[in-house]
Amino acid sequence: MIGFGMAACIQNGDKHRDPGKTYAPDMVYSRAYDAYTHNPIFADSQSSRLPVAGTVARGRELPDHLKEGDTTAYKAFTTTLRFTEQEMKEGKRLYDIYCGICHGQKLDGQGPLYASGKYAAMPANFKDGKYLNMPEGVMYAAVKFGKNAMGAYAAQLDVKQRWQVIAYIKKVQSENGGAPFKFAASADANKTAEGDKAATDSAKVQGKEQMSVAAH
Ligand code: HEC
Repeated sequence: MIGFGMAACIQNGDKHRDPGKTYAPDMVYSRAYDAYTHNPIFADSQSSRLPVAGTVARGRELPDHLKEGDTTAYKAFTTTLRFTEQEMKEGKRLYDIYCGICHGQKLDGQGPLYASGKYAAMPANFKDGKYLNMPEGVMYAAVKFGKNAMGAYAAQLDVKQRWQVIAYIKKVQSENGGAPFKFAASADANKTAEGDKAATDSAKVQGKEQMSVAAH
């Protein structure tokens, strides 16, 4: 058996293992360090470097540093993002798409899926006293991680969109006996938003999660 195996290798091997000629080898074999290669230049010998200290991330997918199960952190978690009227409308649109099916377009927990009887778990009724003044960070955690029968919506909604949806819920709650609405952008920011969006964005970039609202 061994002899047979070796014969097979020799028969096919030579032709297939010949890599042929390499044109422009300095391009094929990069002289730059690959991401995970040993690097003698740095004391820790890592080629992949961390960003310079104090670097502020830009873009939509920013970490919120919230860990699943840390309910104490949920309660304290919030945002400094404030939304214009148009952003609030987008919050409602997203709510209607992703949440309304269960929680209801009226936020009363009577969405069509639940009302049809096909979904056994009772969705939160946001107009009920139990949820009326639920801390926004707890709501955020429900969206990010899910809650019992409710799945997570982290893959569908980015950080800003999650807050937009929550701001919309909080707005409706404020009109139904909940705490006063606090996520509205100031009149100034609203005015600027129409003229110079970039200026508004930089004003909003002071979020605890250092979220940047890039124009898009
Ligand atoms: C498939 C149905 C379904 C969808 C869609 C859904 N939820 Fe839920 N949600 C539930 C159920 C059921 C509960 C009750 C979970 C429990 O307390 O056991 C719940 C609970 C909640 C709670 C209360 C969490 C807590 O800690 O008690 C919040 C806040 C919430 N949902 C927000 C949302 C938002 C925002 C969306 C849209 C992004 C959404 N849900 C989409 C079914 C859903």
